[in-house]
Amino acid sequence: PYPHYAHMRATAPVHFNDTLQVWEVYGYHDIQTVLGDAKTFSSDLSDGKMMVFMDPPRHTQFRRLVARAFTSKVIADLEPKVQAITEALLDRVEAAGRMDLVKDLAFPLPVTVIAELLGLPAADHDKFKQWSIPAIRAAEMELMGQVPAPEFVAAVDELDAYLARLIASRRDHPTGDLVSGLLAAEVDGERLTLPEVASTCRLLLIAGFETTTNLIGNTLQLLLAHPKALRQLEADPELLPSAIEEALRFNTPFQFFARRATRDVELGGQLIRAGQQVMTFNASGNRDESAFPHADRFDITRTANRHLSFGHGIHYCLGAGLGRLEARVALSTLLRRFGQLRLDEGRAAEPLQSVVLFGFSSLPVVFETSE
Ligand code: HEM
Repeated sequence: PYPHYAHMRATAPVHFNDTLQVWEVYGYHDIQTVLGDAKTFSSDLSDGKMMVFMDPPRHTQFRRLVARAFTSKVIADLEPKVQAITEALLDRVEAAGRMDLVKDLAFPLPVTVIAELLGLPAADHDKFKQWSIPAIRAAEMELMGQVPAPEFVAAVDELDAYLARLIASRRDHPTGDLVSGLLAAEVDGERLTLPEVASTCRLLLIAGFETTTNLIGNTLQLLLAHPKALRQLEADPELLPSAIEEALRFNTPFQFFARRATRDVELGGQLIRAGQQVMTFNASGNRDESAFPHADRFDITRTANRHLSFGHGIHYCLGAGLGRLEARVALSTLLRRFGQLRLDEGRAAEPLQSVVLFGFSSLPVVFETSE
């Protein structure tokens, strides 16, 4: 998509798409303007039960509630668990000398972490994993204004029924975990409804799982495609956090988001009417030369990397710290344990078939074990 984004930035940075009847915004600064002004550009597009689709004042209260589960202390305390899950996943493939980076590590790691965060018993993790991908596909189709395929809807129903049982059991026997906390909390002096708690759990799954899978996959793929960067990183492992930020910028896991104008407003010389939908192409903003010198260069030493990959403004990703932690632990452990990592010549990498998400569904690699 990146050559198309470059073309749009140069020719029509704020563009009305006649087919979809939406405004498309491609430039870094225009995107910041839209995401930074929640009053003019509302997120209230869906059923309104998930906080990503809420506006203030309700959003503010909801966010404060969920943010308790994502303080930097909570995230730091999760590190040993993330490390242990990663080591166990790598133990399984070590002897083979080859793995599918996505299926064997980047996929199971974040879904296991979210299952832990939600307090799911370990025995249920596999079921949870099976429902996750169809549930995300269904959400993605809804976002695109399509009717989700029946097999996706069936998985969503099973997931919802499972979460409803989990929530009911926490209501009867609170444990102090995230779900129990949501059940006990009040917004506007009222307890959250059970569907609101369920939607929040589903949001954490949808927002936090495949994006992180793609971040881990994209970072490794970019390093393998840029051997100089990989050597730089091997010589100086301290560069890993900035390499992850650069991968977030360069191949953005979540390509665009939607808003709706609440009033007539001018943007980039165009008049957007009240009620019209606006899509911000954050992935395009991340390659905007006016914000990033040599924007098409993958440079793991880049500083002041103010990319838009976690959004901007009041909906800025609550899980950014967690996503970064998982990527850092996954990649540092992989590079420490497995030497001579390279793409498996015999098996092709498969890019994800999605317009919203950017990543790989399969990334076969080979390696030599160094421990
Ligand atoms: C919001 C990206 C990981 C939970 C967002 C938004 C983006 C994003 C772009 C803003 C959406 C908007 O403005 O409409 C990512 C990426 C991740 C990631 C690229 C990969 C590392 C996570 C994780 C979690 C999470 C691990 C939690 C388990 C959330 C939540 C919101 C959100 C709850 C809604 C915040 C709000 O509405 O105030 N994420 N995310 N994300 N993300 Fe993430």
